Amino acid sequence: MKIVVLAGGLSPERIVSLSSGTMACNAFLKAGHQAILLDLFFGMPELTIDIDQLFENAKPLPPAPISETEPDLAAIAASRPSGWSDRIGLNVIEICQKADIVYMALHGADGENGSVQKVFDEHGIRYTGSGHEGCRLSMDKHAAKEVFGQEGILTPASWLLRRGEIFSLDELPLPAVAKPNSGGSSIGISIATTRAELKRAIEFAFQQEDSILVEEFIKGRELSCGVLDGKALPVIEIIPKEGFYDYKNKYQAGAALEVTPAPISPAATEKVQRLAERVFRALHLSVYARMDFLLTEEEEAYCLEANTLPGMTPTSLLPQEAAVLGIDYIHLCEKIIDLSLEKYR
Ligand SMILES: Nc1ncnc2c1ncn2[C@@H]1O[C@H](COP(=O)(O)OP(=O)(O)O)[C@@H](O)[C@H]1O
Ligand SMILES: [Mg+2]
Repeated sequence: MKIVVLAGGLSPERIVSLSSGTMACNAFLKAGHQAILLDLFFGMPELTIDIDQLFENAKPLPPAPISETEPDLAAIAASRPSGWSDRIGLNVIEICQKADIVYMALHGADGENGSVQKVFDEHGIRYTGSGHEGCRLSMDKHAAKEVFGQEGILTPASWLLRRGEIFSLDELPLPAVAKPNSGGSSIGISIATTRAELKRAIEFAFQQEDSILVEEFIKGRELSCGVLDGKALPVIEIIPKEGFYDYKNKYQAGAALEVTPAPISPAATEKVQRLAERVFRALHLSVYARMDFLLTEEEEAYCLEANTLPGMTPTSLLPQEAAVLGIDYIHLCEKIIDLSLEKYR
């Protein structure tokens, strides 16, 4: 099969995405597919050969490790050759149109907010995962949490703050968590226990986005649960060695312990799995997604968010969950492709 693995883009999670994409691409090649890695933002400006030949020439890629710090997006944006202002790089559409399917290895921004999916729908390009509406809704944490509320799915109480609007710190809870409304990888998230800390946490989140959420802090165990084809995978527990599940703890090897299946009671497992499936349906998702939860001592499960394009390196959370069921990495990636192609039949 001719596969474009689409990664990169101009999102704070660009490096994570290139790492996922490289591994998926190499796995597809090993399984006999013609797979090429394409950077959404840079595209292929100097395309001198026929696009069909690009697929025929596909070769394994060197690993793309994740750095400990977040990328400098302004520098990356400035490094692209001038004369092309679109967020979708040169020749991306043309190359994707020649693929049997585009495997979405993007994270954050354009990939996860559904805008690329919308453009692809308009160009008849087939892609993996949820459609643009489900992506858009899931990426907007405030909107998704409203749906959770309507569906009776527990989620931390939250306050939406917009840049320039007046708000009173006294009306916000403590302890609290401030987060960009559409972020990912915990970028811009911090926990505050005092008014002064909350003020700083809010300013920090506003550095990322114009809309942010302040949520009540939930003390609980960190769980995540993937859904594949509408059915929940085993639950995973994440135990950071220090602090909360921030960027460093997410991507630095050994910074957090990840246990699958999560060593929680069968009742809690059942609760989280059914909730994950309900969230999947409520947000109109398809093929696969991963929901994040906090489980309190009383076994109340709070849903934090749905990730429509979760991390997909072989050691990422969802692949670890699938592995417990005997689905190895390449078979998981191929299953995602098969399920996605079914949408177009
Ligand atoms: N309300 C909350 N109470 C306690 N911890 C939270 C809360 N919200 C977020 N966190 C912590 O921050 C992490 C990232 O939050 P999340 O909402 O999932 O955003 P992201 O999209 O960046 O993953 C969570 O996994 C958790 O460790
Ligand atoms: Mg999360």
